[in-house]
Amino acid sequence: MDKDFLWGGATASYQCEGAWNVDDKVESMWDHYLHEANLENGDIASDHYHRYEEDIRMMKEGGQNSYRFSLAWPRIIKNKAGERNEKGIEFYHKVLDACHKYGIEPFVTLYHWDLPQYWEETGGWLNHEVCAAFEHYAKVCYESFGDKITKWTTFNEPKWFVVNGYKIGNYPPGYQDTQKTMLAAYNVMYASALGVRAFREGNYKGQIGIVHSYTPVNGVDDTIETKIAMRYADNYCNNWILDTAALGEFPIDLVAELAKNHDISFMQADELQIIKNNTVDFIGLNYYSRTLVKPYTEGETQLTFNHSGKKGESKVLIKNWFEQVKDPNNETTEWDTEIYPKGLEDGLIEAYQRYQRPLYVTENGIGVREDVTVDRVNDDYRISFMNDHINAIMNAIDTGCDIRGYYAWAPFDLYSWKNGVEKRYGIVAVDFENNQIRKPKASYYWFKEIIESQGALIKRRPFN
Ligand code: BG6
Repeated sequence: MDKDFLWGGATASYQCEGAWNVDDKVESMWDHYLHEANLENGDIASDHYHRYEEDIRMMKEGGQNSYRFSLAWPRIIKNKAGERNEKGIEFYHKVLDACHKYGIEPFVTLYHWDLPQYWEETGGWLNHEVCAAFEHYAKVCYESFGDKITKWTTFNEPKWFVVNGYKIGNYPPGYQDTQKTMLAAYNVMYASALGVRAFREGNYKGQIGIVHSYTPVNGVDDTIETKIAMRYADNYCNNWILDTAALGEFPIDLVAELAKNHDISFMQADELQIIKNNTVDFIGLNYYSRTLVKPYTEGETQLTFNHSGKKGESKVLIKNWFEQVKDPNNETTEWDTEIYPKGLEDGLIEAYQRYQRPLYVTENGIGVREDVTVDRVNDDYRISFMNDHINAIMNAIDTGCDIRGYYAWAPFDLYSWKNGVEKRYGIVAVDFENNQIRKPKASYYWFKEIIESQGALIKRRPFN
């Protein structure tokens, strides 16, 4: 790997900070939703708000040179009038200063799903005003932290929070409505373009990108029907984010298809031009698995998500579009995520060919139940998972792809949306029951050696 390659871990504000109402932070839509539903929440999470220094020091000691994290809008902007919360801003200065002290390059996300509840109450991403509010928030962040950050991203995973929040209904605000899904998707992609435009107009240093929950699409066979299903799946999973952010256009066949039965009058020509003119400098791809599909011509749409950790609960069947199927040859986690590193290699090659932008693998990891009361969690499965995915990146680089970083999800255990802290991803264990004690897992030490060898210690293998 190139000496400038970024190696690190990724987190999100809501999932690790805790301190949900400290230092004048206001409620986010996730605070509100989980409190109302009385579900396990991130009120304390990994208490990173108070332990960020220790966490960043451990990153450094683990050989890492970068940290991807998000800023919490409800910590930074107090109200709809757009007033700054200086205490929240001060917190992120301290985090950034710790990064710089330890030689860790910050890679910063503006929005990782924690919309201020005061905006959710006005309709959230269904309210067009929120796009301008996001632009204002982004400007406050660029102004406040522009001299300490050179890698920015607007949104984390529009596909994931929009589809889960407005179509599947398992995330806040909990709708199951295609028209609302379309409107939220449009507003988010427009807001992202406004964030890019503000960054360029302000002449801040560095680059700006977007992060996508990438599930490259494969088909069960080579028939024309399967290829059509694959295109529907790719539009649904990937293209409406990546084409829009990187090429400046929503996929026209997707828009035409949706327009048959839905209202698309919210798509305004002047705004589409802003999207066209403000594409991203780079793309962050979060990779957990691919989407394997076959045609689905009979039956109704069924979308269910596994939050229980009992295999077999996930379903993605979209009427007349596609059905996601399992490959019996591959293992899955208890939460139904197929382990398929080849998908990352194929997906990186495809994304690089299509978008010709530098790529970062901004999240990759495996969520499992673990006993963290032992001295050291021997997470061989995580080592094997990370090895095979870094191998996939190296294979893609060998074909000429420009890939500039790899971030483990996560540098330490944190809260998993709707799954609580039972589903662990960290390379450092956090004992949530026992004073939040941090203990590196075997994967932490393994990752350190991999980084020190610049990837030379990765077990290389071609995929079949
Ligand atoms: C990504 C998100 O979707 O995957 C993270 O960016 C998330 O916020 C991660 O935690 C793992 O997903 P989950 O649902 O298992 O926590």
